Amino acid sequence: MKREQISAPKGVSEYVPPRSASFEWVRDHLIAPAKAAGYQLMELPVFEDTNLFSRGVGESTDVVSKEMYTFEDRGGRSITLRPEGTAGVMRSVIEHSLDRGQLPVKVFYSGAFFRAERPQAGRYRQFYQVGVESIGLDDPAIDAEVITLADTAFKNIGLKKYRLEITSLGDGQSRAAHKVDLVAFLKTLNLDEATAARAQINPLRLFDDKREEIQAKMAGAPLLMDYLSPESKANFDQVRSYLDALGITYSVNPRMVRGLDYYTGTTFEFIHEDLGAQSGIGGGGRYDGLMETLGGQSLSGIGFGLGVDRILLAAEAEGVLFANQFASDLFIIPLGQPAKVEALSIAQTLRQSGLRVEIAFGDRALKGAMKAADKSGSAYAIVLGDSELASGAVELKRMKDGELSSVKIGELESALSRTS
Ligand code: HAM
Repeated sequence: MKREQISAPKGVSEYVPPRSASFEWVRDHLIAPAKAAGYQLMELPVFEDTNLFSRGVGESTDVVSKEMYTFEDRGGRSITLRPEGTAGVMRSVIEHSLDRGQLPVKVFYSGAFFRAERPQAGRYRQFYQVGVESIGLDDPAIDAEVITLADTAFKNIGLKKYRLEITSLGDGQSRAAHKVDLVAFLKTLNLDEATAARAQINPLRLFDDKREEIQAKMAGAPLLMDYLSPESKANFDQVRSYLDALGITYSVNPRMVRGLDYYTGTTFEFIHEDLGAQSGIGGGGRYDGLMETLGGQSLSGIGFGLGVDRILLAAEAEGVLFANQFASDLFIIPLGQPAKVEALSIAQTLRQSGLRVEIAFGDRALKGAMKAADKSGSAYAIVLGDSELASGAVELKRMKDGELSSVKIGELESALSRTS
């Protein structure tokens, strides 16, 4: 009986060969600058106590109010699949007392996150982020370094068509002064009940409302940037001057509102031009009250989350990925049993010196095996038959133009290293 096929759940992103190699390459390039700056890996659970997100990320956010995958586990506990990484990192830092050691605590993470959003190109229900968090010190130079880590990663990947927007949400005093005027302004707008309720929890959220009529109404709203306390303003100016010194271009967007409630001070977003509606390739900022909200001491922190799925789409759109960059160096075609033994041992030796080597298995005829070598995208191929075993030499075939050169088996490594 033919059984019905099972498909992946709606809206998940998944990466299978050959595209998975590009995904891996992009992800590793996003991580590399953080590692070079001394950030260390944090590998955390993908599910957490639901309270962690409702308290940490904020009830007024879409992420918490509409998009969480929440369920009761077998012990009756409310569990949520992580929609973001910062709250979990903070929970773990407190739980393992990392904040009692050397500060700042500098960590990176990479993995799957879950939001029950309406799926579309670049927006998935399971997606991948690379993130960093630097926790424990409030120094504008750290803000600049964190932003630079993301910018460097994008540059190393080869992206050009992206821009950086930054703003400051100020300190408590700045936000309180702004809130008085913003709330008074919102009262004049005649908002519907749901919108008014959202505004009550976090009035800044209305800057982020995608509806045109709300955007129009918000055109004259007071901007937090104009309410920054002298300390917050000095802090933001300092961040900007570090970025200027590093040659990082940015624009200040005083209307930026991030989708999570914990942000304070410097906040930023990277936007890619080729991605349509889902153009945010990464974002982050400072979060002064988060650790305390989660039961820890009062320490500041800053970090970012980069959307690996979207950055891969951006890299593809800009044409900076080359399929052959992930292919093997050598494809060995053994003919017969003794040749197979030799092929396995040659491959073993070459792989240990860092070369990528594949073998044609399955005793296919030479023609079929050559086709496989071609398809694999391998740079070189050799055929190992009885005569090659007897002479100890092979014809090294350069796949792109078919050029042949005679090489001793023992010298394959240096021949391949010379050419790669
Ligand atoms: P976020 O802006 O919510 O921030 O997410 C960061 C990035 O994840 C976005 O810029 C986007 O590229 C990607 N992303 C978000 N949702 C989706 C989705 N449904 N499908 C595909 N990609 C998506 C955070 O999550 C914060 N935890 C970042 C942070 C770290 N702030 C401070 N530290």
